[in-house]
Amino acid sequence: MAHIAVVAGDGIGPEVVAQARKVLDAVVPGIEATEYDLGAARYHRTGEVLPDSVLDELANHDAILLGAVGDPTVPPGVLERGLLLKLRFAFDQYVNLRPSRLWPGVAGPLAAVKPGEVDLVVVREGTEGLYAGAGGALHRDTPAEVATEESLNTRHGVERVIRDAFARAARRERRKVTLVHKTNVLTHAGSLWARAFAAVAAEHPDVTTEYQHIDAAAMFLVTNPSRYDVVVTDNLFGDILTDIAAAVTGGIGLAASGCINPEGRYPSMFEPVHGSAPDIAGQGVADPVAAVLSAALLLDQLGHPDAAARVTAAVGTELAGRTPGAPLRTEEVGDRLAALSVA
Ligand code: NAD
Ligand code: IPM
Ligand code: MN
Repeated sequence: MAHIAVVAGDGIGPEVVAQARKVLDAVVPGIEATEYDLGAARYHRTGEVLPDSVLDELANHDAILLGAVGDPTVPPGVLERGLLLKLRFAFDQYVNLRPSRLWPGVAGPLAAVKPGEVDLVVVREGTEGLYAGAGGALHRDTPAEVATEESLNTRHGVERVIRDAFARAARRERRKVTLVHKTNVLTHAGSLWARAFAAVAAEHPDVTTEYQHIDAAAMFLVTNPSRYDVVVTDNLFGDILTDIAAAVTGGIGLAASGCINPEGRYPSMFEPVHGSAPDIAGQGVADPVAAVLSAALLLDQLGHPDAAARVTAAVGTELAGRTPGAPLRTEEVGDRLAALSVA
């Protein structure tokens, strides 16, 4: 039986992860889960963010379920870089998979878009780009202060994520991939991305392709989200686009993601797109659907597609029964989803 690691993390992380575990236990009883106490509390207690010994232990799991990391009491970047990005990089989770669909019963903000008309997936590069940590600062706190942040793009890294996007598109009905970048300004990285995209596209004559600049894509994602099937893009563009995609499909509380190491050499990690939501943490009102759908992606990855489909269907029933704008209780939604998943 599979053995997963659970990093509940900060803020609403533990609240939503508890519901995801409830659902996992209901649909696939016997998945072993080990909890890892990482995040703001451990940092304050011990000064540790992610000790190497813990990283080694995490490596020995079949997958990781993560809630959210980041807390207002910890300087920005300490946990985000030191824990979350460290995991994504150490486990070579180069495919950051972020599906968005407008579910029946969910009121999206766009009057012109009906449920069923948005079903897209962003394949966000997960280990390079501006997230690589290259750059530096000089003359801090002087008038001459300079800070640089460099975007790292390797042919290997770019090509493999584009390849993943095409493989996914080939398995979908519309078989279309949109490359999103900013080739008109970021001419070095943009050229690399465009040439790698063209090379992989040539191997997939059955897949339709298009290119858009990030600014236009941000606009079209709001004005005409139905035009997208698979979107492949760089790390930072993908971060921003997937919050827009979440907003367009009913909110960040519904948006799931997988940080995937497709070769299976390292564990993949599944987490909601949202963060620790300090503004609502501790109130029991966070929507656990994003965490539960992330658990469904985890089940798929672990070879339980039927269980994943049951969880996804349960979410469909839950959302179809919601009254738009009505308040929810995290635990009650978790209980309902667990029950619906085995009904
Ligand atoms: P956020 O996603 O935590 O919150 C943005 C807004 O969305 C807030 O108003 C919040 O209440 C709401 N929201 C988020 N999840 C929700 C849910 N499940 N149900 C209902 N409402 C929800 O983003 P932020 O405020 O920019 O960041 C807060 C902290 O989280 C920061 O420390 C940030 O670095 C971190 N963060 C972590 C992750 C992650 O762990 N993957 C992702 C994003 C942000
Ligand atoms: C996300 C988050 C992270 C990211 C941060 C917290 C490092 O915003 O998962 O979308 O930028 O990838
Ligand atoms: Mn983000």
